[in-house]
Amino acid sequence: MKRIGILTSGGDCQGLNAAIRGVAKALYVEFKENVEIYGINDGYRGLIEGNYQRMKPDDFSGILTLGGTILGTSRQPFKLMRIVDENSVDKVQCMKDNYKKMKLDCLVILGGNGTHKTANLLSGEGLNVVTLPKTIDNDVWGTDMTFGFSSAMEIATNVLDCIHTTATSHGRVFIVEIMGHKAGWLTLHAGIAGGADVILLPEIPYNIDSIAQTLDQRNKRGKRFSILAVAEGAISQQEAKMSKKEFKAARADMPYPSISYRLSQEISERTGQEIRVTVPGHFQRGGSPCPYDRLLATRFGTAAAKLIANKNYGNMVALQNGSIVPVPLCDVAGKLKGVPKDCEIIQTARDIGISFGD
Ligand code: F6P
Repeated sequence: MKRIGILTSGGDCQGLNAAIRGVAKALYVEFKENVEIYGINDGYRGLIEGNYQRMKPDDFSGILTLGGTILGTSRQPFKLMRIVDENSVDKVQCMKDNYKKMKLDCLVILGGNGTHKTANLLSGEGLNVVTLPKTIDNDVWGTDMTFGFSSAMEIATNVLDCIHTTATSHGRVFIVEIMGHKAGWLTLHAGIAGGADVILLPEIPYNIDSIAQTLDQRNKRGKRFSILAVAEGAISQQEAKMSKKEFKAARADMPYPSISYRLSQEISERTGQEIRVTVPGHFQRGGSPCPYDRLLATRFGTAAAKLIANKNYGNMVALQNGSIVPVPLCDVAGKLKGVPKDCEIIQTARDIGISFGD
């Protein structure tokens, strides 16, 4: 009898349930009656606290289109994993103990960047681990695509579409702040698909005067409105030169919590134009996965089950050039996949006159 644990960790995204379902259904096909699946609740927290339950095949039915995660999730920062807390709890030891107590043959972990650091740590500690890359940020190294990204892109694009109609009616400048943490994938893709005039990414630090100039030029050409798709992690050229400490201090002085409000103030001071800010926030992570994410999550799920059947542990399943391949966890952990400044999509945007504010 095989005993497989499964958990979802970090920020949720669309497609998690489709992936859980894919793993489970493929395991049941692979091992017939000879597999028991244990759902671990609320991410690594459930593994630390021993909070889990045996799942039945029925638990994985009817969840393909469901948003969020049926297992729950939590953020357990990697830097705190190795710290034994005030109650002398060694979290890594607890996870190892519970893995043993559950008599698992393998632990399947669905997560993004932070999750992969801990997954690699557990793998290094001797646990059999297989992972699936999820996140709306698409910033997991080693895979061309994470599930969640396409659904979030669709939502962010819809926001830009809706903003277009009100922006044109009023002749206003709109800033739409798009999630993505320290990577600009979501903003870049949604920005192009949603017809943004300016796209600001963490990977291409902006110059506020250059943005103001673009907006002025549009005005002179008779364009009464402009739309800026701004990544939540966007930084200015001055900030890009700062040390981590200086950057923190500079942001601590900001009168508003998000980059977009500061930008709006700075741009209106320079151009005199009326500006509105829209922050769709967690809306971008909610709701049903789009068909592409359902398919990708299912492909990842079945590939993970095959890795388990072949005892090919210590790997993440990844999409590379259209195929699903295993990538060693030690290659993935601790790396961020940012948008390359000279990639074809950036060039496409520049080719149609989109400004990156640089
Ligand atoms: O990693 C996914 C993500 O939505 C990022 O885009 C965003 O920066 C972050 O999570 C928000 O985190 P939280 O859900 O903890 O507020």
